[in-house]
Amino acid sequence: MQPGEPLGERYRLVEALGRGASGEVWSAIDSTGARFVIKCLRSTVEPELEKRFERELAVARQLGPPYFPRLIDGRSGPEGPRYIVWAAEQGSALADLALDADRAASRVLRRLLPVAELLRALSRLHALGIVHRDLKPEHVLVKPDGSVVLLDLGLCRVSDSLRLTASRHILGSAAFVAPEQIQAPQNVDQRADLYAVGAIAFWLLSGRLPFAAPTAESLLVLKLMRQAPLLNDVCEVPVPAAVEEWVAMMLAREPTGRPASASAAGEKLEHALGGD
Ligand SMILES: Nc1ncnc2c1ncn2[C@@H]1O[C@H](COP(=O)(O)OP(=O)(O)O)[C@@H](O)[C@H]1O
Ligand SMILES: [Mg+2]
Repeated sequence: MQPGEPLGERYRLVEALGRGASGEVWSAIDSTGARFVIKCLRSTVEPELEKRFERELAVARQLGPPYFPRLIDGRSGPEGPRYIVWAAEQGSALADLALDADRAASRVLRRLLPVAELLRALSRLHALGIVHRDLKPEHVLVKPDGSVVLLDLGLCRVSDSLRLTASRHILGSAAFVAPEQIQAPQNVDQRADLYAVGAIAFWLLSGRLPFAAPTAESLLVLKLMRQAPLLNDVCEVPVPAAVEEWVAMMLAREPTGRPASASAAGEKLEHALGGD
């Protein structure tokens, strides 16, 4: 696939956004100037990746604004190219926003605003019986008005997001994955996503990940063996005790130690921010 190449009758490829085992993600444009993001499946892929593509398309059909990108088009089946087209969302990935932000105490808690939004998005997803399983800052888009859009859905199983090579991308996923998801990827429930939200909040507040290790393998072992550190033990800027407790609860090693649902987690977060 090349910039300028047409796809189907409507789209023209602009720029590659990502390349993976199953295919490529491109930004694209049509003759009206509207912008899109297109995920294309390779013509020959393992049946497992094909199944995952079908599932992502099926999930995309159930979702849309607010909180999820608008599905425009989807082609699957044995004939012709297979792709999913979404409207391109304006905004920056949480990954990019957080790195730029300064760490003044007054600003630190404001970083949790997208986390509260993220929990509302998850509530909606979980209500449909869908567990994201690959939540991380690059999959959370923050729009200019502060609302969030959740990307890359219903797609990743642990065997992919944790492929044990030392690429930065893979390590990034390993950093946010729940301990039980490492052991039994098929059996996780919505509380695995809550763990990832805890890891995202930890990172937003401290600039650090809850666990650090030189390889993905050792990171996963560490995560299975140890509870995450307390925020105030690693934070340059102290956070209120109630917020520290909330993050620790989200990062509980056992799912039973976490809030039961995204909406319960959101209520507890509001309480932690309001109290103190
Ligand atoms: N609807 C969208 N609007 C804007 N950017 C998007 C959209 N969908 C995906 N992206 C960007 O493309 C990247 C790759 O998409 P993703 O669904 O994560 O593909 P992959 O399966 O290759 O990880 C995302 O991390 C995000 O930066
Ligand atoms: Mg992705």
